[in-house]
Amino acid sequence: MSVVKETRVKPLFSFACYKFEVVENGLKHLKKFITDHEQNIIVLADKHTYAFCYPLLETNVPHIIVPYGENYKNLNSCEFIWKKLIELNAKRNTTLLCLGGGVLCDMGAFAGKCYQRGMSVVLAPTSLLAMVDASIGGKNGVDFLGLKNYIGTFSEPKHIFICPEFLTTLPYPEMVNGFVEMLKHGLIASKSHYDQVKLLFLKDNHAITPNLINDSIAIKTQIVKDDFLDLGVRRRLNFGHTIGHAIEANSLKISEENEALSHGISVALGMVVECYISHKVVGFSADQLSEVSTVLGGLVKSVYDEIPEVDDLIPYLTRDKKNFNDSINCTLLLEIGEANHDYEIGEELIKAGFEYLKSLK
Ligand SMILES: NC(=O)c1ccc[n+]([C@@H]2O[C@H](COP(=O)([O-])OP(=O)(O)OC[C@H]3O[C@@H](n4cnc5c(N)ncnc54)[C@H](O)[C@@H]3O)[C@@H](O)[C@H]2O)c1
Repeated sequence: MSVVKETRVKPLFSFACYKFEVVENGLKHLKKFITDHEQNIIVLADKHTYAFCYPLLETNVPHIIVPYGENYKNLNSCEFIWKKLIELNAKRNTTLLCLGGGVLCDMGAFAGKCYQRGMSVVLAPTSLLAMVDASIGGKNGVDFLGLKNYIGTFSEPKHIFICPEFLTTLPYPEMVNGFVEMLKHGLIASKSHYDQVKLLFLKDNHAITPNLINDSIAIKTQIVKDDFLDLGVRRRLNFGHTIGHAIEANSLKISEENEALSHGISVALGMVVECYISHKVVGFSADQLSEVSTVLGGLVKSVYDEIPEVDDLIPYLTRDKKNFNDSINCTLLLEIGEANHDYEIGEELIKAGFEYLKSLK
Protein backbone atom coordinates (compact mmCIF):
# COMPACT_ATOMS: atom_id res chain seq x y z
CA MET A 1 0.00 0.00 0.00
CA SER A 2 1.37 3.36 -0.83
CA VAL A 3 0.89 7.03 -0.60
CA VAL A 4 2.04 9.63 -3.03
CA LYS A 5 2.79 12.63 -0.92
CA GLU A 6 3.61 15.82 -2.60
CA THR A 7 6.48 17.93 -1.33
CA ARG A 8 6.84 21.42 -2.65
CA VAL A 9 10.47 21.95 -3.62
CA LYS A 10 10.15 25.34 -5.27
CA PRO A 11 8.09 28.38 -4.34
CA LEU A 12 4.42 28.74 -5.20
CA PHE A 13 3.68 29.61 -8.82
CA SER A 14 6.78 27.94 -10.17
CA PHE A 15 4.34 25.33 -11.28
CA ALA A 16 4.99 21.64 -11.44
CA CYS A 17 8.18 21.59 -9.45
CA TYR A 18 7.22 18.75 -7.21
CA LYS A 19 8.89 15.74 -5.85
CA PHE A 20 6.60 12.80 -5.26
CA GLU A 21 7.52 10.67 -2.32
CA VAL A 22 6.11 7.18 -2.54
CA VAL A 23 5.47 5.96 0.97
CA GLU A 24 4.06 2.67 2.22
CA ASN A 25 0.73 2.49 4.10
CA GLY A 26 -1.26 5.28 2.48
CA LEU A 27 -4.28 4.94 4.73
CA LYS A 28 -2.15 5.05 7.87
CA HIS A 29 -0.58 8.34 6.69
CA LEU A 30 -3.97 9.78 5.77
CA LYS A 31 -5.37 8.92 9.21
CA LYS A 32 -2.40 10.53 10.90
CA PHE A 33 -2.82 13.64 8.75
CA ILE A 34 -6.47 13.88 9.83
CA THR A 35 -5.57 13.42 13.49
CA ASP A 36 -2.91 16.12 13.23
CA HIS A 37 -5.42 18.55 11.67
CA GLU A 38 -8.66 17.43 13.33
CA GLN A 39 -9.43 20.87 14.80
CA ASN A 40 -9.46 22.43 11.36
CA ILE A 41 -10.38 19.93 8.66
CA ILE A 42 -13.60 19.22 6.74
CA VAL A 43 -14.15 16.09 4.66
CA LEU A 44 -16.01 16.45 1.36
CA ALA A 45 -17.50 13.14 0.17
CA ASP A 46 -20.23 11.93 -2.15
CA LYS A 47 -22.96 9.58 -0.93
CA HIS A 48 -21.01 6.46 -1.92
CA THR A 49 -17.64 7.51 -0.57
CA TYR A 50 -19.25 8.72 2.65
CA ALA A 51 -20.83 5.26 3.06
CA PHE A 52 -17.80 3.18 1.97
CA CYS A 53 -14.63 5.23 2.54
CA TYR A 54 -15.31 7.70 5.35
CA PRO A 55 -15.67 4.85 7.91
CA LEU A 56 -12.11 3.68 7.05
CA LEU A 57 -10.80 7.04 8.27
CA GLU A 58 -12.02 6.19 11.80
CA THR A 59 -12.70 9.82 12.57
CA ASN A 60 -15.61 12.04 13.34
CA VAL A 61 -14.43 15.28 11.74
CA PRO A 62 -17.09 17.49 10.10
CA HIS A 63 -18.16 16.49 6.62
CA ILE A 64 -20.11 17.73 3.64
CA ILE A 65 -21.91 15.18 1.48
CA VAL A 66 -22.88 15.79 -2.16
CA PRO A 67 -24.73 13.50 -4.58
CA TYR A 68 -22.54 11.20 -6.69
CA GLY A 69 -22.16 11.24 -10.46
CA GLU A 70 -21.06 13.45 -13.34
CA ASN A 71 -24.52 15.09 -13.46
CA TYR A 72 -23.65 16.82 -10.19
CA LYS A 73 -20.26 18.11 -11.30
CA ASN A 74 -21.53 21.64 -11.71
CA LEU A 75 -21.69 25.12 -10.22
CA ASN A 76 -24.90 24.31 -8.30
CA SER A 77 -23.00 21.69 -6.32
CA CYS A 78 -20.16 24.16 -5.75
CA GLU A 79 -22.64 26.67 -4.39
CA PHE A 80 -23.97 23.99 -2.05
CA ILE A 81 -20.40 23.24 -0.89
CA TRP A 82 -19.61 26.95 -0.35
CA LYS A 83 -22.79 27.42 1.73
CA LYS A 84 -21.91 24.40 3.87
CA LEU A 85 -18.34 25.67 4.33
CA ILE A 86 -19.74 28.96 5.63
CA GLU A 87 -22.13 27.09 7.96
CA LEU A 88 -19.17 25.10 9.28
CA ASN A 89 -17.25 28.35 9.77
CA ALA A 90 -14.42 27.23 7.43
CA LYS A 91 -11.52 29.66 7.17
CA ARG A 92 -8.88 30.02 4.49
CA ASN A 93 -6.52 27.91 6.61
CA THR A 94 -9.10 25.14 7.02
CA THR A 95 -8.23 21.96 5.10
CA LEU A 96 -10.83 20.61 2.68
CA LEU A 97 -10.15 16.88 2.34
CA CYS A 98 -11.75 15.64 -0.90
CA LEU A 99 -12.61 11.97 -0.45
CA GLY A 100 -13.93 10.53 -3.68
CA GLY A 101 -13.55 9.71 -7.34
CA GLY A 102 -12.57 12.02 -10.17
CA VAL A 103 -15.84 13.94 -10.06
CA LEU A 104 -15.51 14.71 -6.36
CA CYS A 105 -11.76 15.50 -6.54
CA ASP A 106 -12.14 17.79 -9.60
CA MET A 107 -15.12 19.64 -8.15
CA GLY A 108 -13.93 19.69 -4.54
CA ALA A 109 -10.50 21.04 -5.46
CA PHE A 110 -12.14 23.74 -7.60
CA ALA A 111 -14.64 24.71 -4.89
CA GLY A 112 -11.87 24.76 -2.26
CA LYS A 113 -9.54 26.83 -4.41
CA CYS A 114 -12.32 29.44 -4.96
CA TYR A 115 -13.52 29.61 -1.34
CA GLN A 116 -12.05 32.77 0.23
CA ARG A 117 -9.65 32.78 -2.75
CA GLY A 118 -8.20 29.42 -1.84
CA MET A 119 -8.39 27.19 1.21
CA SER A 120 -6.03 24.32 1.79
CA VAL A 121 -7.05 21.38 -0.43
CA VAL A 122 -5.98 17.78 0.13
CA LEU A 123 -7.04 14.92 -2.16
CA ALA A 124 -7.75 11.36 -1.08
CA PRO A 125 -8.84 9.74 -4.36
CA THR A 126 -11.01 6.66 -3.85
CA SER A 127 -11.55 5.41 -7.42
CA LEU A 128 -8.75 3.89 -9.49
CA LEU A 129 -9.27 6.53 -12.17
CA ALA A 130 -8.89 9.32 -9.63
CA MET A 131 -5.76 7.71 -8.13
CA VAL A 132 -3.87 7.34 -11.40
CA ASP A 133 -5.22 10.34 -13.25
CA ALA A 134 -7.78 12.86 -11.98
CA SER A 135 -6.03 13.68 -8.69
CA ILE A 136 -2.63 14.13 -10.35
CA GLY A 137 -1.62 17.28 -12.18
CA GLY A 138 -3.58 20.14 -10.65
CA LYS A 139 -6.44 20.41 -13.15
CA ASN A 140 -9.78 20.92 -11.42
CA GLY A 141 -13.19 22.22 -12.35
CA VAL A 142 -16.78 21.49 -13.26
CA ASP A 143 -18.92 20.97 -16.33
CA PHE A 144 -20.88 23.97 -17.62
CA LEU A 145 -23.75 24.25 -20.12
CA GLY A 146 -23.17 20.61 -21.05
CA LEU A 147 -19.48 21.15 -21.84
CA LYS A 148 -16.93 19.02 -19.99
CA ASN A 149 -14.65 20.65 -17.44
CA TYR A 150 -15.26 24.07 -18.98
CA ILE A 151 -14.94 26.09 -15.77
CA GLY A 152 -11.90 25.39 -13.64
CA THR A 153 -8.35 26.18 -12.66
CA PHE A 154 -4.83 24.84 -12.68
CA SER A 155 -3.94 24.69 -8.99
CA GLU A 156 -2.28 21.91 -7.06
CA PRO A 157 -3.52 20.41 -3.81
CA LYS A 158 -1.32 20.51 -0.75
CA HIS A 159 -1.14 16.72 -0.53
CA ILE A 160 -2.45 13.72 -2.44
CA PHE A 161 -2.86 10.52 -0.47
CA ILE A 162 -3.04 7.37 -2.59
CA CYS A 163 -4.69 4.61 -0.53
CA PRO A 164 -5.39 1.47 -2.58
CA GLU A 165 -7.30 0.19 0.48
CA PHE A 166 -10.30 2.20 -0.77
CA LEU A 167 -10.48 0.10 -3.93
CA THR A 168 -11.92 -2.92 -2.11
CA THR A 169 -15.43 -1.40 -2.34
CA LEU A 170 -15.10 0.05 -5.84
CA PRO A 171 -17.48 -1.74 -8.26
CA TYR A 172 -15.72 -3.60 -11.09
CA PRO A 173 -17.07 -1.34 -13.91
CA GLU A 174 -15.50 1.60 -12.07
CA MET A 175 -12.19 -0.31 -11.91
CA VAL A 176 -12.40 -0.68 -15.69
CA ASN A 177 -12.67 3.10 -16.00
CA GLY A 178 -9.34 3.33 -14.20
CA PHE A 179 -7.78 0.61 -16.37
CA VAL A 180 -8.70 2.70 -19.43
CA GLU A 181 -6.75 5.75 -18.22
CA MET A 182 -3.81 3.52 -17.21
CA LEU A 183 -3.87 1.96 -20.66
CA LYS A 184 -3.81 5.47 -22.11
CA HIS A 185 -0.70 6.29 -20.07
CA GLY A 186 0.95 3.20 -21.57
CA LEU A 187 -0.21 3.98 -25.10
CA ILE A 188 1.23 7.50 -25.07
CA ALA A 189 4.42 6.92 -23.10
CA SER A 190 5.36 3.33 -22.22
CA LYS A 191 4.78 0.11 -24.14
CA SER A 192 5.75 -1.97 -21.13
CA HIS A 193 3.11 -0.24 -18.97
CA TYR A 194 0.56 -0.84 -21.74
CA ASP A 195 1.51 -4.53 -21.85
CA GLN A 196 1.05 -4.91 -18.10
CA VAL A 197 -2.21 -2.96 -17.94
CA LYS A 198 -3.82 -4.80 -20.85
CA LEU A 199 -3.75 -7.99 -18.77
CA LEU A 200 -6.16 -6.28 -16.37
CA PHE A 201 -8.75 -6.31 -19.13
CA LEU A 202 -8.69 -10.08 -19.24
CA LYS A 203 -11.62 -11.45 -17.30
CA ASP A 204 -9.55 -13.77 -15.13
CA ASN A 205 -7.03 -11.17 -14.10
CA HIS A 206 -8.38 -8.27 -12.11
CA ALA A 207 -5.36 -7.96 -9.85
CA ILE A 208 -4.09 -4.45 -9.57
CA THR A 209 -0.91 -3.88 -7.62
CA PRO A 210 0.29 -0.73 -5.87
CA ASN A 211 3.37 -0.88 -8.12
CA LEU A 212 1.25 -0.68 -11.25
CA ILE A 213 -0.68 2.26 -9.76
CA ASN A 214 2.62 3.97 -8.95
CA ASP A 215 3.95 3.36 -12.48
CA SER A 216 0.87 4.96 -13.97
CA ILE A 217 1.12 7.95 -11.63
CA ALA A 218 4.81 8.29 -12.51
CA ILE A 219 3.99 8.56 -16.23
CA LYS A 220 1.44 11.30 -15.62
CA THR A 221 3.62 13.12 -13.11
CA GLN A 222 6.56 13.25 -15.50
CA ILE A 223 4.45 14.71 -18.30
CA VAL A 224 2.83 17.26 -15.97
CA LYS A 225 6.23 18.31 -14.64
CA ASP A 226 7.35 19.07 -18.18
CA ASP A 227 4.27 21.14 -19.04
CA PHE A 228 2.02 22.01 -16.09
CA LEU A 229 -0.06 24.58 -17.99
CA ASP A 230 -0.92 22.29 -20.90
CA LEU A 231 0.91 24.31 -23.53
CA GLY A 232 2.62 21.37 -25.25
CA VAL A 233 3.50 17.80 -24.26
CA ARG A 234 0.77 17.60 -21.60
CA ARG A 235 -1.75 17.57 -24.45
CA ARG A 236 -0.59 14.01 -25.14
CA LEU A 237 -2.57 13.02 -22.04
CA ASN A 238 -5.65 14.03 -24.03
CA PHE A 239 -5.26 11.01 -26.29
CA GLY A 240 -8.77 9.56 -26.72
CA HIS A 241 -10.30 12.56 -24.98
CA THR A 242 -11.17 14.80 -27.94
CA ILE A 243 -13.65 12.18 -29.15
CA GLY A 244 -14.18 10.75 -25.64
CA HIS A 245 -15.29 14.02 -24.04
CA ALA A 246 -17.72 14.65 -26.89
CA ILE A 247 -19.22 11.14 -26.47
CA GLU A 248 -19.48 11.63 -22.70
CA ALA A 249 -21.04 15.11 -22.92
CA ASN A 250 -23.57 13.96 -25.53
CA SER A 251 -24.46 10.92 -23.45
CA LEU A 252 -24.95 13.07 -20.33
CA LYS A 253 -27.35 15.24 -22.30
CA ILE A 254 -29.53 12.43 -23.65
CA SER A 255 -29.47 9.95 -20.72
CA GLU A 256 -31.39 9.62 -17.49
CA GLU A 257 -29.55 10.70 -14.34
CA ASN A 258 -26.45 8.53 -13.70
CA GLU A 259 -27.23 6.35 -16.75
CA ALA A 260 -24.85 8.13 -19.10
CA LEU A 261 -21.71 6.48 -20.48
CA SER A 262 -18.91 6.79 -17.92
CA HIS A 263 -15.82 8.90 -18.49
CA GLY A 264 -13.66 5.77 -18.82
CA ILE A 265 -15.88 4.00 -21.37
CA SER A 266 -16.26 7.23 -23.36
CA VAL A 267 -12.47 7.65 -23.45
CA ALA A 268 -12.04 4.00 -24.47
CA LEU A 269 -14.36 4.56 -27.44
CA GLY A 270 -12.49 7.80 -28.19
CA MET A 271 -9.16 5.95 -28.11
CA VAL A 272 -10.34 3.42 -30.71
CA VAL A 273 -11.45 6.22 -33.03
CA GLU A 274 -8.25 8.18 -32.45
CA CYS A 275 -6.13 5.04 -33.04
CA TYR A 276 -7.88 4.65 -36.38
CA ILE A 277 -7.17 8.33 -37.21
CA SER A 278 -3.54 7.79 -36.10
CA HIS A 279 -3.36 4.89 -38.56
CA LYS A 280 -4.62 7.08 -41.39
CA VAL A 281 -2.65 10.25 -40.58
CA VAL A 282 0.65 9.34 -38.92
CA GLY A 283 1.16 5.72 -39.91
CA PHE A 284 0.19 3.98 -36.65
CA SER A 285 0.51 0.42 -37.91
CA ALA A 286 -2.45 -1.75 -38.90
CA ASP A 287 -1.17 -4.46 -36.54
CA GLN A 288 -1.08 -2.12 -33.58
CA LEU A 289 -4.51 -0.70 -34.46
CA SER A 290 -5.87 -4.23 -34.45
CA GLU A 291 -4.06 -5.02 -31.17
CA VAL A 292 -5.50 -1.98 -29.30
CA SER A 293 -8.95 -2.59 -30.80
CA THR A 294 -8.85 -6.18 -29.52
CA VAL A 295 -7.92 -5.04 -26.00
CA LEU A 296 -10.70 -2.44 -25.92
CA GLY A 297 -13.12 -4.59 -27.96
CA GLY A 298 -15.17 -5.84 -25.00
CA LEU A 299 -15.96 -2.29 -23.96
CA VAL A 300 -17.05 -1.40 -27.48
CA LYS A 301 -19.36 -4.41 -27.76
CA SER A 302 -21.01 -3.77 -24.42
CA VAL A 303 -22.09 -0.24 -25.36
CA TYR A 304 -22.49 -0.70 -29.11
CA ASP A 305 -26.07 0.61 -29.14
CA GLU A 306 -24.97 3.76 -27.36
CA ILE A 307 -22.33 4.80 -29.88
CA PRO A 308 -23.63 8.17 -31.14
CA GLU A 309 -23.86 9.55 -34.65
CA VAL A 310 -20.91 11.82 -35.44
CA ASP A 311 -23.25 14.68 -36.41
CA ASP A 312 -24.54 14.74 -32.81
CA LEU A 313 -20.99 15.19 -31.55
CA ILE A 314 -19.92 18.06 -33.82
CA PRO A 315 -21.19 20.84 -31.49
CA TYR A 316 -19.08 19.38 -28.67
CA LEU A 317 -16.06 18.71 -30.85
CA THR A 318 -15.95 22.24 -32.23
CA ARG A 319 -16.18 23.75 -28.73
CA ASP A 320 -13.59 21.46 -27.19
CA LYS A 321 -11.13 23.37 -24.97
CA LYS A 322 -8.22 21.72 -26.77
CA ASN A 323 -9.01 23.37 -30.11
CA PHE A 324 -7.21 26.33 -31.60
CA ASN A 325 -9.09 28.45 -34.13
CA ASP A 326 -11.97 26.47 -35.63
CA SER A 327 -10.22 23.15 -36.16
CA ILE A 328 -10.61 19.98 -34.07
CA ASN A 329 -7.39 19.16 -32.24
CA CYS A 330 -6.22 15.63 -31.46
CA THR A 331 -3.26 13.78 -30.02
CA LEU A 332 -2.27 10.84 -32.23
CA LEU A 333 -0.22 7.68 -31.69
CA LEU A 334 2.91 7.06 -33.73
CA GLU A 335 3.22 3.64 -32.16
CA ILE A 336 2.27 1.98 -28.87
CA GLY A 337 4.26 3.97 -26.29
CA GLU A 338 4.79 7.08 -28.41
CA ALA A 339 2.39 9.94 -29.13
CA ASN A 340 2.47 13.42 -30.57
CA HIS A 341 0.05 16.30 -29.98
CA ASP A 342 -1.71 19.07 -31.91
CA TYR A 343 -2.98 17.43 -35.10
CA GLU A 344 -5.87 19.21 -36.81
CA ILE A 345 -8.49 16.67 -37.79
CA GLY A 346 -11.34 17.01 -40.30
CA GLU A 347 -14.89 15.72 -39.84
CA GLU A 348 -14.56 13.15 -42.64
CA LEU A 349 -11.74 11.41 -40.85
CA ILE A 350 -13.75 11.37 -37.61
CA LYS A 351 -16.69 9.84 -39.49
CA ALA A 352 -14.41 7.15 -40.91
CA GLY A 353 -13.11 6.49 -37.39
CA PHE A 354 -16.66 5.93 -36.15
CA GLU A 355 -17.36 3.53 -39.03
CA TYR A 356 -14.29 1.58 -37.91
CA LEU A 357 -15.47 1.65 -34.28
CA LYS A 358 -18.87 0.29 -35.27
CA SER A 359 -17.29 -2.43 -37.38
CA LEU A 360 -15.75 -3.92 -34.21
CA LYS A 361 -19.09 -5.14 -32.87
N1 LIG B 1 -8.48 16.48 -13.45
C1 LIG B 1 -8.02 15.59 -14.31
O1 LIG B 1 -6.87 15.67 -14.75
C2 LIG B 1 -8.91 14.44 -14.72
C3 LIG B 1 -8.36 13.35 -15.40
C4 LIG B 1 -9.19 12.27 -15.72
C5 LIG B 1 -10.53 12.31 -15.39
N2 LIG B 1 -11.04 13.41 -14.73
C6 LIG B 1 -12.45 13.45 -14.36
O2 LIG B 1 -12.73 12.36 -13.49
C7 LIG B 1 -14.13 12.08 -13.55
C8 LIG B 1 -14.35 10.58 -13.55
O3 LIG B 1 -13.87 10.07 -12.32
P1 LIG B 1 -14.37 8.66 -11.75
O4 LIG B 1 -14.33 7.66 -12.83
O5 LIG B 1 -13.61 8.41 -10.52
O6 LIG B 1 -15.92 8.91 -11.48
P2 LIG B 1 -16.73 9.26 -10.14
O7 LIG B 1 -16.03 10.25 -9.32
O8 LIG B 1 -18.13 9.55 -10.58
O9 LIG B 1 -16.71 7.88 -9.33
C9 LIG B 1 -17.35 6.76 -9.89
C10 LIG B 1 -18.38 6.16 -8.92
O10 LIG B 1 -17.69 5.36 -7.97
C11 LIG B 1 -18.07 5.76 -6.64
N3 LIG B 1 -16.91 5.51 -5.81
C12 LIG B 1 -15.73 6.16 -5.82
N4 LIG B 1 -14.87 5.57 -4.99
C13 LIG B 1 -15.52 4.52 -4.43
C14 LIG B 1 -15.13 3.49 -3.50
N5 LIG B 1 -13.89 3.42 -3.02
N6 LIG B 1 -16.05 2.57 -3.15
C15 LIG B 1 -17.31 2.59 -3.69
N7 LIG B 1 -17.72 3.52 -4.58
C16 LIG B 1 -16.82 4.48 -4.95
C17 LIG B 1 -18.49 7.21 -6.79
O11 LIG B 1 -19.35 7.60 -5.74
C18 LIG B 1 -19.19 7.18 -8.14
O12 LIG B 1 -20.51 6.69 -7.99
C19 LIG B 1 -14.67 12.79 -14.79
O13 LIG B 1 -15.45 13.88 -14.38
C20 LIG B 1 -13.41 13.27 -15.51
O14 LIG B 1 -13.64 14.47 -16.22
C21 LIG B 1 -10.25 14.45 -14.39
